[in-house]
Amino acid sequence: MKIAFAGKGGVGKTTLCAWTADFLARQGRSVWMVDADTALSLGQASGVASRALPEPLVAREDLIRQRIGAGGMIALSPAVDDLPELLGVDVPGPGPGRRRLLVMGTVAGAGGGCACEANALLKSLLAHLVLERDDWVLVDLEAGVEHLGRGTVAHVDGLVVVSEASHRGLETAARIAAMGADLGLGNQVLALNRDPGGPLPPLPGLPPRVLRLPPLPGLAARQLNDSCVLGLPEAGTVDALVAGLLETLEQGRGGAGD
Ligand SMILES: Nc1ncnc2c1ncn2[C@@H]1O[C@H](COP(=O)(O)OP(=O)(O)OP(=O)(O)O)[C@@H](O)[C@H]1O
Ligand SMILES: [Mg+2]
Repeated sequence: MKIAFAGKGGVGKTTLCAWTADFLARQGRSVWMVDADTALSLGQASGVASRALPEPLVAREDLIRQRIGAGGMIALSPAVDDLPELLGVDVPGPGPGRRRLLVMGTVAGAGGGCACEANALLKSLLAHLVLERDDWVLVDLEAGVEHLGRGTVAHVDGLVVVSEASHRGLETAARIAAMGADLGLGNQVLALNRDPGGPLPPLPGLPPRVLRLPPLPGLAARQLNDSCVLGLPEAGTVDALVAGLLETLEQGRGGAGD
């Protein structure tokens, strides 16, 4: 199954994505973690030291030029089949499943005036991973609706819209959900993070299936000194939440396997 995590800035997208990858790998699944954010944080959230993180794809001008072509002509179907293996790094962690990290970066972060080319390559690589690989693919999107707007995640099986429990945050979540639905991505879950409990405001467009994540004091205490979000004192709670999320997404796509 391929899942994208979207939402406003700072709501917990990367955290939930890292938890899900960790859970799946411990279940023996092979997982691609795709960091499509500027902050390069999915690796760090998964325990990779910053110095061990690869350069993001959008900064690889050599590769972009080689695959997309220079001089104004953009290759519409660049060769990308080998790129996951070329660019992906293995992430250590418990469990029989293999975890690999692909750092894409965002188009806004592309250097050397090659944003169009970087965008084309990024899109092709994501489409390849999502459409042609049997592994699990988890895409941690940049804040906002940019990626959805460009249609980058149009082919994933599930969209997790992460939100803080505030009216403004939920308005953004509803907008992201609506854009996802427009792209044909109807299998959505709203992940309400740091949920204080209580009913949600009746905002049109919010995904009807809601996963509520409590504030985790163990995570808050940890983050002061460490970016890794795995191996928390609340690990049991986290696993139960992720299992619930995956079950909901599986049901939403009609019970098909991965
Ligand atoms: N339920 C929670 N309890 C306590 N802390 C949390 C919880 N969820 C997330 N956090 C913390 O909140 C911060 C922001 O989370 P995270 O980086 O996952 O958000 P994000 O949506 O990916 O942000 P960005 O838009 O910057 O990529 C992190 O320090 C994370 O550890
Ligand atoms: Mg993030």
